[in-house]
Amino acid sequence: MRSVGIVGIGSYVPENIVTNKDFELFLDTNDEWIISRTGIKQRHIAPKDMPVSELCYQAGLKALEDAQIAPEEVDLIIVATITPDYAFPATACLVADRLGARNAAGFDLEAGCSGFVYGVVTGSQFIATGMYKTVLVIGGETLSKVLNWKDRSTCILFGDGAGAAVLQPVKEGFGFLGFELGSDGSGGALLSQPAGGSMYPASLETVEKNLHTLQMEGKEVYKFAVRVMGEVSLKVLKNADLKIEDVDLLIPHQANIRIVDAAVRRLGISPDKVVVNLDKYGNMSAASIPVALDETFKSGRIAEGDIIVMAGFGTGLTWGACVLKWTKVGLEV
Ligand code: ACO
Repeated sequence: MRSVGIVGIGSYVPENIVTNKDFELFLDTNDEWIISRTGIKQRHIAPKDMPVSELCYQAGLKALEDAQIAPEEVDLIIVATITPDYAFPATACLVADRLGARNAAGFDLEAGCSGFVYGVVTGSQFIATGMYKTVLVIGGETLSKVLNWKDRSTCILFGDGAGAAVLQPVKEGFGFLGFELGSDGSGGALLSQPAGGSMYPASLETVEKNLHTLQMEGKEVYKFAVRVMGEVSLKVLKNADLKIEDVDLLIPHQANIRIVDAAVRRLGISPDKVVVNLDKYGNMSAASIPVALDETFKSGRIAEGDIIVMAGFGTGLTWGACVLKWTKVGLEV
């Protein structure tokens, strides 16, 4: 098996910022409640005419530029999203077309906020086995399009954005060292967008009942998240024969500062090794982790050889974590 790493990263968020104060104008909520219960101060929201493929295209382009790789060299594009442009065709195919990645296969991957981790784990298998050399993985969401803007317990939590990573073979001992993925469909109803699929095809009734918007049992998801974030991070370290002391950086899914804090306590990791940017972006689902990774790298906080853990949880229910030894130098193979 070849070693696989991230040789290019990029991210994109729409310009428009919605602050907590903005919600006070049309919802029974306030800045103090939102900050104390979630840690979120603002989020970026895409304009009505901007689909998720546009965010993914922008992030993907930046990642390819960062890796200095031409679109024609990409063998596969995976877009992790729960807010695709269409039920079909796949957003990955639309993004490949925009990028000019005409030699790339493409498919979407649906694992909610664990989507980017699922994506890099899936993409890296093609490279590890020698089947492909270059895989572009993008986590992108426009959850703003499926929120019920009258539901104060959900609409304040989410933001739009996309983050991308170019995967290629890297020198032995670097790149992905281990992963852990899981799911539990019995909790599917805790976080869903019920209508529009084969269970509840779109109808006047589904629209009237608001079933095309995100529905969440916040307290139950919270309890699940607190439990699983610690567990999956410890498991992935065990799989890679590493200890928490070996970790230089933890990039958790950015849903709620209280969930991050609980995971930090459970893991016994120093908070200064934990990336938090949810105050600026809210929960961007599959985009949260790659946007945080990109920002952290660009800030100069990641060095060659650093051990990085990325861990997420989300609808499904799903959870996933991967650990990598950082290098951005691809191997000529
Ligand atoms: N402003 C003011 N009050 C509010 C708001 C708001 N925006 N939202 C809810 N409240 C009220 C409730 O109505 C309730 O009032 P009541 O006591 O009079 O009934 C009170 O605040 C407490 O509500 P809770 O739901 O108990 O608040 P909680 O402390 O659990 O926080 C929250 C809610 C933030 C949603 C929390 O449960 C949470 O973060 N859950 C996890 C969500 C999550 O991570 N989701 C993403 C999953 S990832 C993916 O795949 C997309």
